[in-house]
Formats: sequence, C-alpha cells, structure tokens
Amino acid sequence: MALLEILHFPDPRLHLKAHLVKSFDKELKKLVDDMAQTMYQNDGIGLAATQVNIQKRLIIIDVSKSNDQLLVFVNPEVVSRSGEVIGEEGCLSVPGVYDSVTRSENISVKFQDLEGNIYTKDYTGLMSVCVQHEIDHLDGKVFVEYLSSLKQNFIKKKMKKIFKSQ
Ligand code: NI
Repeated sequence: MALLEILHFPDPRLHLKAHLVKSFDKELKKLVDDMAQTMYQNDGIGLAATQVNIQKRLIIIDVSKSNDQLLVFVNPEVVSRSGEVIGEEGCLSVPGVYDSVTRSENISVKFQDLEGNIYTKDYTGLMSVCVQHEIDHLDGKVFVEYLSSLKQNFIKKKMKKIFKSQ
C-alpha cells in the first residue's frame, strides 16, 4: 500500500470530470487499498479518486469510528432522492474548513463493487450526505462551491497561505 497525495482546493485538477470505470482489475483494487490508507491516515470519512488526481468514478467511505467498515462505490450514481437536510461538511481537499451545505436527506444509489456486480442501495443521514459529497468530487465539484463567492475567496486565500510552501 502507498500513501497518495491529496489535491487541495483551488487546484484546477479538482474540477476534472471522472471517467466511468470499465476494468475491474488488480489495478483498481490496488487503487482502493492506497486510497483507504490515505483516507485513514488523514482521519477522513470519505475520499474520491479525483482527490488523488485519478479521473475514475470511484469513491470510498468509512463513517465508523473503528475504521473497519470500508465501503467502495464504483461508478456511483444517485438514482432517486427525497427530503432535505443541512449539515456541516468538511473535506480532505479543504483542510480545516467546515461549513453548512444543503443536501438530499434520502438517496438511492446505483453502483458497482470491485468485481463489477451492480447494486442499488438506500442511504439516509450521514451516509447519504457523504455519498453525495463524494459523487460531487467525481463531477469536479468541491463542497465549498456551494458557499457564497465571498466565503470561497476567503477560503482560497486561506488555502494558498497554508500550502504556499508546497
Ligand atoms: Ni471532499
């Protein structure tokens, strides 16, 4: 396993749209292992391939405190949604920034596993928000882009200051 470099907002590569995964091979499993190690190392609860500069429609999530409930979603797609919920979100690509975002409260997600099997599952609460946040990454959207342009400019300046030396 290897730790991967996480891109930080406002890196333009975070706005690239990810491509459908077509090969369910060893390389994909290795990428998931590396992404999981990277997510756990950084105390994240979700990570999209886009955040490690890989344009594949792949996200991982683990909302457990014990870090042993890894969920892998290949080619995830929200097929239905209902309700509305406002929650505080954060992101490994925007470290130290937390703000409220309005999301669908309940979603049905169609996705594939690492073998290519297709599932549709329903999620609510934190899992629902997390899946929506991560799918946004695959479409080139970072959660801070839901905030006012004033806040976004402030966050950009803050990030540039933090990562100036990198
Ligand atoms: Ni994120």
